Amino acid sequence: MTYTRKQLETFLALEDFQEIYAQADALRAETVGDIVHIRALLEFSNHCKRLCCYCGLNATDKNLPRFRMDPRDMISTAQEACQAGYKTIVLQSGEDPWYTPDMIGEVVKQIKKTGMAVTLSCGEHPESVYQYWRDCGADRYLLEHETSDPKLYATLHPDSSLEARVACLRSLKRIGYETGGGFMIGLPGQTLSTIAGDLLLLQEIGCDMAGIGPFIPHPDTPLREATPGSTELTKRAVALARLLLPRANLPATTALGVLDDAQKENVFSCGANVIMRKVTPNNLKKLYQIYPAAFSDVDIRTGRLETEAEIRSLNRTPV
Ligand code: 5AD
Repeated sequence: MTYTRKQLETFLALEDFQEIYAQADALRAETVGDIVHIRALLEFSNHCKRLCCYCGLNATDKNLPRFRMDPRDMISTAQEACQAGYKTIVLQSGEDPWYTPDMIGEVVKQIKKTGMAVTLSCGEHPESVYQYWRDCGADRYLLEHETSDPKLYATLHPDSSLEARVACLRSLKRIGYETGGGFMIGLPGQTLSTIAGDLLLLQEIGCDMAGIGPFIPHPDTPLREATPGSTELTKRAVALARLLLPRANLPATTALGVLDDAQKENVFSCGANVIMRKVTPNNLKKLYQIYPAAFSDVDIRTGRLETEAEIRSLNRTPV
């Protein structure tokens, strides 16, 4: 479907959004069905060279103990996730130059031997590196654009630009990755018009996936005093993303569950069809503090079974 920015802005501001939720839910059922994909999320390094003002991993946060997983441990954790029933693993980290392109490429090759799909989410890199990882077997890449307003982007990311970010997304698409963008709801300075622009940018890039979550202030960042994003507005953006990108994979983001567990379940009736579950080793999980969040310390298999049960309780089919 195509909408103008003004139309999307008007939708986002509606008093009663029920009709659009129902449309998004019906479209989701028709295009991607009742299946909810469960992805394993392995957070392998919390070192980051970037200065993103909202993120607890940003390079200036001296309070955070940093960790890096050894490539061998990444591979064995992925194998364990595979045995627990996962078909996709997302390898996520800060932008950590300690890992060379070759090291990540080798990890991808080894994990691909399990038969799992591999999603990478480790930031901005030259097109040649993205191409190399694709050649090693990586299937998907997640790189949220965070905000489509170039001025707001520059304020929140003193060391980079929206232009560079979007160029990376276009490279990923060109190379043939299933490409994931996404953005936060409630960033200080964001308006409904910005969110409308965020949605249109996903569509313009041709994103195959989109992570849309509420902003959560982190106490060790410059945005510590800011107000968290609205969960209602997050669900509205997910529903509109479904209308704009009918076949996309849209996760119920972890951040949504942090602010309100019920809304994380509820978003599955607003267009979402994916959930991620951490398989990060328990001693490291608590250090991957993008935003403050409680974490569960069950083992990988138990975590998977819990998530499957949650999905079944919503009358949807876990895969
Ligand atoms: N609140 C909510 N989401 C955040 N992210 C980063 N910091 C925060 C925060 N404080 C999101 C960004 C990033 C993804 C991994 O997590 O969209 O791309």
